Amino acid sequence: MPEVARDPMMPRFLRVRRAAAETRDTVTLELDDAAAAPAFAPGQFNMLYLFGAGEAAISISGPPANRATLVHTIRGVGSVTAPMMQLKRGAVLGVRGPFGSSWPLPEAAAGAYDLLLMAGGIGLAPLRPVIYEVLRRRRDFGRLIILHGARTPADLLYRNELAQWRTSPGVTVKLIVDRGAGGWSGRVGVITDLLGAVEFDPAETLAMACGPEVMMRFCCRELVRRGVAAEHIYLSLERNMKCAVGFCGHCQFSPFFICKDGPVFRADRIEPLLGIREL
Ligand SMILES: Cc1cc2nc3c(=O)[nH]c(=O)nc-3n(C[C@H](O)[C@H](O)[C@H](O)COP(=O)(O)OP(=O)(O)OC[C@H]3O[C@@H](n4cnc5c(N)ncnc54)[C@H](O)[C@@H]3O)c2cc1C
Ligand code: FES
Repeated sequence: MPEVARDPMMPRFLRVRRAAAETRDTVTLELDDAAAAPAFAPGQFNMLYLFGAGEAAISISGPPANRATLVHTIRGVGSVTAPMMQLKRGAVLGVRGPFGSSWPLPEAAAGAYDLLLMAGGIGLAPLRPVIYEVLRRRRDFGRLIILHGARTPADLLYRNELAQWRTSPGVTVKLIVDRGAGGWSGRVGVITDLLGAVEFDPAETLAMACGPEVMMRFCCRELVRRGVAAEHIYLSLERNMKCAVGFCGHCQFSPFFICKDGPVFRADRIEPLLGIREL
């Protein structure tokens, strides 16, 4: 049946089916979508509306192939996202979306590229649908390398899944933390340190990075230094959002609106602008 066009400013109201704490300040909310959410592409985001608090842009972090459950992973940092940490099964959220550009999976499949994902902290959330898709359509893609960094071992996201992914054929997972604690015997440092711990052919690799902007700037620089073309590097940017459909100008970033031209950009198109808060 053809999908009915929806007003992008009108939220749909969905119930929380499951709320799972990921870390001390991060929760994953699974929303029941009996009417089946519109299809989304990995990297796109929704605007989540909490009564009495307001609206925030949150990436979709669940499997694109499962449209009956809409999944978001949220870090409680402020007036909208902090109260979302307290939501329990049965709570109601407004959802608008999906919005924005997506990670280049069609290009990756067409070129049978290896994929190198670099995720800092909550930046693993918008990359998780890429991982689900690559594992579901394993033969369409080359190797999958997942590099994830966090402040401490307790801040690493999706720890059970990371352990499962690393046992999948053709998948490499490497983790690093800013500060080791609690018996951590893994690496301590910054995420670009992990590039020295994995082998990849720069000519056959598409890289995707999401995390703090300074992290993405260093990832970009280091990937280019190792021979990955800037046209093969993709970054996901964040700015304050209001309308999410290119009307209000809140998310303007030089000639771009992050809500509709982004959040995923090819690095060569935006690298000189990184680090500038308002343009
Ligand atoms: C396209 C896009 C996708 C996003 N995806 C996700 C996601 O999947 N999960 C998620 O948790 N967040 C995501 N964000 C970030 C999220 O939208 C913001 O954290 C949220 O809008 C903060 O709203 P608030 O009202 O709770 O905080 P505010 O009350 O606006 O901010 C409170 C304080 O937190 C600081 N702050 C705001 N945002 C951040 C941040 N991202 N990190 C650290 N400090 C911050 C502010 O500077 C301020 O000091 C995404 C943002 C964009 C643009
Ligand atoms: S949020 Fe309004 S133009 Fe992007």
